[in-house]
Amino acid sequence: MCGIFAYLNYQVPRTRKEIFETLVNGLLRLEYRGYDSAGIAVDGPKKTATDNNNIICIIKTKGKVKALDEELYKKDSLDLDEELYTHFGIAHTRWATHGEPSPVNSHPHRSDKEHEFVVIHNGIITNYKELKAYLINKGYEFESETDTEVIPKLTKYVYDNREDDNITFSTLVERVIKQLEGAFALVFKSRHFPSEAVSTRRGSPLLIGVRSEQELTTDIPIQYNSVQEKNSHNRPDCPSGINSVGDGRPVEYYFASDASAIIEHTNKVLYLEDNDMAVVIGGELSIRRVKQQDGEVPVRAIQTLQMELQQIMKGNFDAFMQKEIFEQPESVVNTMRGRICFDSNTVILGGLKDHLKEIKRCRRLIVIGCGTSFHAAVATRQVLEELTELSVMVELASDFLDRNTPVFRDDVCFFISQSGETADTLMALRYCKGQGALTVGITNTVGSSICRETDCGVHVNAGPEIGVASTKAYTSQFVALTMFGLMMSEDRLSLQPRRMEIIEGFKVLPELIKQVLALDEKIKAIADELYEQKSLLVMGRGFHYATCLEGALKIKEITYMHSEGILAGELKHGPLALIDKDMPVIMIIMKDACYTKCQNALQQVTARSGRPIILCCQDDHEISQMAYHTIELPHTVDCLQGILSVIPLQLLSFHLAVLRGYDVDFPRNLAKSVTVE
Ligand code: F6R
Repeated sequence: MCGIFAYLNYQVPRTRKEIFETLVNGLLRLEYRGYDSAGIAVDGPKKTATDNNNIICIIKTKGKVKALDEELYKKDSLDLDEELYTHFGIAHTRWATHGEPSPVNSHPHRSDKEHEFVVIHNGIITNYKELKAYLINKGYEFESETDTEVIPKLTKYVYDNREDDNITFSTLVERVIKQLEGAFALVFKSRHFPSEAVSTRRGSPLLIGVRSEQELTTDIPIQYNSVQEKNSHNRPDCPSGINSVGDGRPVEYYFASDASAIIEHTNKVLYLEDNDMAVVIGGELSIRRVKQQDGEVPVRAIQTLQMELQQIMKGNFDAFMQKEIFEQPESVVNTMRGRICFDSNTVILGGLKDHLKEIKRCRRLIVIGCGTSFHAAVATRQVLEELTELSVMVELASDFLDRNTPVFRDDVCFFISQSGETADTLMALRYCKGQGALTVGITNTVGSSICRETDCGVHVNAGPEIGVASTKAYTSQFVALTMFGLMMSEDRLSLQPRRMEIIEGFKVLPELIKQVLALDEKIKAIADELYEQKSLLVMGRGFHYATCLEGALKIKEITYMHSEGILAGELKHGPLALIDKDMPVIMIIMKDACYTKCQNALQQVTARSGRPIILCCQDDHEISQMAYHTIELPHTVDCLQGILSVIPLQLLSFHLAVLRGYDVDFPRNLAKSVTVE
C-alpha cells in the first residue's frame, strides 16, 4: 500500500545519475506495494559551488516505476554527471486511495510552487478534509485530490507562522503531525533545511538502513520532545550531541517501507516505532519521540537483517509469484526448522513457550486475519480444535471489528499476517489488547507492527514474499498453526497417535510438495483449456474448504475471472443452480472423512451435465471415471492435505493469468501490504 523510499548521502560523493538509480531501484523493490504512479524529489542544479538557493526538483509519472525511470532522463536541466557530495532524495510508488492515478495525485506532494516542503506518505489521513478546509480558508491553494497534500501545506503554514526564526525541521514536523489523524509513514524534505531528513510514522511501517564505515553501535538513545535541538542554520554538524550514528564521517541512510529495498545496500537497520521521529542533520541520525509513554525503553537498536539479496530476486522464474510457488518445498522446511524434533516427536515454538501455560488455561482461541491469512486460519481450525480441545473462532479482521465482537481477558487472540502490517488486522490486535486478551502474532515479517505489538508470537520464516498474490506465506502459516496445535497437545496421552501421524506427515511434506509441483505441465494444459472462460467454481468441504476459498481468491485476483469457493455441503442450497455443461467446476475430493459426502456432490454435479476437474488422491479410479480431468495428488494425513491441494490452484491461477496476458506480480487495483482500513 504505497512504497516509500529515500536516500541520504552525507559526504559520500554521488552523481545525480547514481542517486536516480538508487531511488529508482528502491522503488522497484517496493513496487509490489502499489504501482499506479511514482515520483521523486531531488535537489536541482546549483548555479555556482557556493549557491545557497536550493531548488527542489519533483518528477512524477502515472503508471509503473519504469515510466518514471524513463522520464528522469528526459530532463535536460538536470545534469546527470553533477556530483552531489551530500544530498537527500525522496521517492514514492503509489497505490491510489484518494484521487485517481495521475501525475498530480502522485507523490511527492509539495507545499507550494517553490517546493519549500515536499513529502512522501504511506497511509491515510482521515481528518484531511477539515485540515484542507482550514488551509484553504487561510489562502493555501491545493492542486490534487489526495489526503496527503494537506501535510506539506500544513508544514508551510506552520513555517510561515513560526515565532522562532531558528525553528528546527523536526519541531516543524512534530507540530504538523500532532494535527494529523489516521495512519502514516512520512518522509519530509525541505529547501529551507538542505540535506536534512525528517521521517516519522504512526500505523504504517518505516525503517532506516545505515551504511557507514563507522562501527555501528547497536543502540541509539531516543530524545523526548523537550530536548532542545539545534538546526543546520546555526550549527551544521553533529547538532544534537548524540553520537550513535554519524559522527561526522561519511554515511548513507536509506529510508524504506520495508527491508527488501534496503538489503542490497546494507544489513544494518533501525525500525521506527509509532510516534518516533528520525532526524538526520549534518549526517547524524537521532531519534525523537513525539509522544512519550510510560515505561518506554529509551533506545532504538540497530539490528542486523537476516535477509539475503538472492531472496528478493526472481532468478530463473518469469514472476515472483511463480518463484514463490516453487520455493514451497524449502519454505515449509524453514517454518519447521529448529522447531520440530522428529526423533522425540516434540514441537517447540520458542516465541510461545513462556506463554504456554496461560494459553492452555484460556477460554477460547480467536484466530484473526484478512484474505489469504484468514484462509490459513480456516484451513487449520479443525486440527486446532482437535489438538487444543478448545473452542476456536476464525475471524475476518474487518468484520470482527465491525461487530465489536466481545473479547475477554481469558481469550487468546492470534493475528495472522504475512506482512505484519495489515491495517484491519493491526486494529483488531489493538482492540483485543484493549480488552485484556493475550495476543499472539503469526507473521512473516520480522520487526513488523504486528510482531512488535503482540505479547508473543511465531515468525513463519517463509522468506520475503514479493508476489502480490500470497502463496508460500499461506502454506507456512498453515504449518505454523498446525505446529502450535502439536505443541499444545504434547502432554495429552489420548492424542499421541494423532500427533505422531501429523509429525510423520510433516517429515515427508517437502517431498510431497515437490511431487505436486511436478504436475505443473499438466496444470498448464488445463489452463490452456480454461483461460477464456468467464467464471470458475472451486468446490470442496472439510479440510479443503479453505483450499476452495484460497484457490478462488488466487484466480480472481490475478486472472480477473470470476471465481467462487463453494462449500460442497452448501451446493444443494443454491450454488447447484450455476451448474451446467458450460460452467467450469473444480472439485477437491480427497480420501478423508468427507469423501462419501464429496462423492454425493460430484454425483449432483455430473447429473446436471457438469464437467468437473477433480483434485483427488493418486489412483482413485472411482473418482477418475467421473471426472472431465483429474489432478492426482500424493496422499498425506488429512489435516495436512490442504497444503498439497492448494498448490495446483496456485499454479492454475498463475498459468491462467499468463495466458490471459496479465502481469502476475502486479494485479490491477491491488497492493501487497494493505496498510489502510
Ligand atoms: C491474497 C493476499 C491478500 C492478503 C491480505 C492480508 O493473495 O495476499 O489477501 O493475504 O491482504 O495480508 P497480510 O497477510 O499481509 O496481513
